[in-house]
Amino acid sequence: MFVALERLINLQEGYRKTFQVSGQQLLLLVVDNQPLLIENRCPHQGAPLHSATLEGDVLRCQRHGIEFRLPCGQPIQQGACAGLKVFRLAYEGDRIGIDV
Ligand code: FES
Repeated sequence: MFVALERLINLQEGYRKTFQVSGQQLLLLVVDNQPLLIENRCPHQGAPLHSATLEGDVLRCQRHGIEFRLPCGQPIQQGACAGLKVFRLAYEGDRIGIDV
């Protein structure tokens, strides 16, 4: 089932918004003009990532400073923790969303 999250027209560089779908906290953001959907939860110790710092394609969790390369979500420092949980985006009409 497709769950719409946002209108495509609203996805611009710097976009960042959280959603709750099926009990999961999601973070939709635009990086390098590409939409990316990740779990709004740091794989290190669970801090929310909606206030993480984004520099280029590097997302830095504010709690302990682990940095993740986007869009793959892997930590830059290998073995620091697991990678970000990245979800596959789905499209329907003028909406972007997720298939659940
Ligand atoms: S909880 Fe994100 S770096 Fe520790």
